[in-house]
Amino acid sequence: MIRRKNNVFKLDTPKTSLILYITDEGEAEYLYYGKRLKEFLNDYEKFVHAQRETKPSGLDGTRLYSSFGEIDPRRPAIACSFADNSFTARFRFKKASFTQKPDLAPLPSSYGEKTERFSTQTLCLEFLDEGTKLKLSLYYTVFADSDVIAVTTALYNGGKKEVRVKSLPSLQFELCDTGYSFVTFRGGWGDERNKKTTPLAGVGSISNESVSGLTSHASNPFVMLEKEGGVYAFNLVYSGNHKETAEEDIFGRTRVTIGLNDYMLEKRLAPAETFFTPEAVMTYAQNGDGISENMHAFVSNHIVRGKWKNKERPIVINNWEATYFNFNQDKIFAIAETASSLGVEMFVLDDGWFGKRDADNSSLGDWFDYEEKTGGISALAEGIRQKGLKFGIWVEPEMISENSELYKKHPEFAMKIPGKTPLRMRNQLVLNMADPKVQKYLIRVISAVIADTKASYVKWDYNRRITDCYGAGVFSGEYFLEYMKGFYTVLQKITEKFPNVLFEGCAGGGGRFDLGMLCFTPQIWTSDNTDARMRIKIQSSTSYGYPQSTMSCHVSASPNHQTLHASPIETRFNVAAFGVFGYETDMTKFTDEEKETVKKQIEFYKKWRKILQYGDMYRLGDYEKNKERGFICVSKDKSKAIAVVCADKQGVGIYNHALKMKGLSEDFVYQVNYRSQTDYAEEESFTAGGDALLCMDLPLNGLTTTCKAEEITANPVYTRILTFEKRKK
Ligand code: DGJ
Repeated sequence: MIRRKNNVFKLDTPKTSLILYITDEGEAEYLYYGKRLKEFLNDYEKFVHAQRETKPSGLDGTRLYSSFGEIDPRRPAIACSFADNSFTARFRFKKASFTQKPDLAPLPSSYGEKTERFSTQTLCLEFLDEGTKLKLSLYYTVFADSDVIAVTTALYNGGKKEVRVKSLPSLQFELCDTGYSFVTFRGGWGDERNKKTTPLAGVGSISNESVSGLTSHASNPFVMLEKEGGVYAFNLVYSGNHKETAEEDIFGRTRVTIGLNDYMLEKRLAPAETFFTPEAVMTYAQNGDGISENMHAFVSNHIVRGKWKNKERPIVINNWEATYFNFNQDKIFAIAETASSLGVEMFVLDDGWFGKRDADNSSLGDWFDYEEKTGGISALAEGIRQKGLKFGIWVEPEMISENSELYKKHPEFAMKIPGKTPLRMRNQLVLNMADPKVQKYLIRVISAVIADTKASYVKWDYNRRITDCYGAGVFSGEYFLEYMKGFYTVLQKITEKFPNVLFEGCAGGGGRFDLGMLCFTPQIWTSDNTDARMRIKIQSSTSYGYPQSTMSCHVSASPNHQTLHASPIETRFNVAAFGVFGYETDMTKFTDEEKETVKKQIEFYKKWRKILQYGDMYRLGDYEKNKERGFICVSKDKSKAIAVVCADKQGVGIYNHALKMKGLSEDFVYQVNYRSQTDYAEEESFTAGGDALLCMDLPLNGLTTTCKAEEITANPVYTRILTFEKRKK
């Protein structure tokens, strides 16, 4: 709910309040963001004035947005230049209004529904720079059921000459407080999202960014400001170049900005034109668990949309690590048959089914059947369905191989700079997505693939980054943005045409794991690294900002193809089960014993699927230090929960492993069951009060039973699943 009293605005979410204040001079400030405050005091303004006196004086306070030309010496959020070569803009408050949430299409954004529970309310604050008639509008949206606030910034050129916008973050947030650390999730291919905590004191402005044309493996746009007792988190609903900055200044203020990366950004704003930024989101909680709770609910209810919203996802078998490019119809049918007999629900045919694609050096763009290999893609899809599985297919629409029919016909579709040899990555070039002809082509051919194969699932991959950034006729400062608009147009049109199809995002694993993608693809391939030991870290870090229902997690072969690290089938299951579960290996090669185990695992997953995918997920222990760690997923009514616990060695002597649980009800008594890991392991069970499970260390019994001698490697991880069921009185 948003309320106004004179110059004070109070934006309430169920558990938080954000208070904004407009000074008599027309400047706008953040006054408070934190735990929800019940009252909107009658004498609020007096209180506000008293509050302000505790703030740094004469330094512009804690601004909602900063521009060049004020007293504050820090680098401002907005940068634009005017026709007269000046670049100073001093924005002063003009008016506030309650309005509709802005529609940013073709850029994606969060949404509310027209039910009271999911409704939204938007406050728009408008500011004007007198001389240039440039108008800055800040849109703050609150959701009736969510503790996340969405913010979009817009710039309107009310002058008579063009303005060039060189930086326009979606959100500037500022606190009159210090001692925070900036938490980022950095990494690389196969090693996505390592949590890095950098104290801000004395380091100046630091940033987390991507200029690769996609959100990137290197820097996820989800970031936090963290200190004991209070955490703020931010994310951007966008899949391209982004930048998040954090700075603590010597006057006791901490500022964060989040939005489009300003690298090479130069948006030309014609008279009477408005430029809307992508949407940023922010939330507050007392700790990381609270942040995840807020973000998970928000993503599930206000980002993910369509038929698969809050719906249980199928168990897939994907043939990539089973066959790579080397398959034929018989091989695919054999894997499908085994998978189906073990309880798998969907077969996903990965890379290699189109053009003449036998390796990664050809055919991207030729989205038609490689008949000699597939035996006819429609027949193959039908054959899969006859084996009781749904059919899914892999595509990488934004790419082109020079060795392709498409390139022969339309070399101009590829992103290349005239007169310059383009840089190839994975032997491929990127399509110029800013070109409407390319968009039209992709909508047509990708739709035909889905229609012809009657696919129920599409994996949308992206396996390089943008280097030779160019599109004929597209202004350089707008190219990255135009690429994203073209990309989203194609994705929107295709997902709209096939509302029942489940789309999965992917970019060489988790290179485009972001809220922009999740507006179209309800789940994303979390990482190409499927090693359980690494996955614990990757899934844990990802879970800070994204719910487990968005994380695709597969059991693959041992030794693992990426790390060569061996682990038993139970360990691989125990970790992959805490997400959208599937397989990525040649299931025909399982021994009979393994097949029996896999069958039981799948049955078990199906029984617990709702809670594993949609329960409230908490991280257990300390995964950053590789100590005892794991996850617990708790049903909404807290009557059931399922946890996986992990450790690196068998507990001996004083090194016995133990963990405290989270999320359970203090008032319930639970039947706790250590799931049997193999036929030779006993299933153990006992009862305990929820309060004891939350406060006391639970011994991690039986971790070693998962490993056979030959499976123990230099870096093992031992895991075990526990279930909790409320005991009936
Ligand atoms: C990268 C993806 O992350 C893999 O899962 C697989 O689809 C390959 N691309 C196929 O080329």
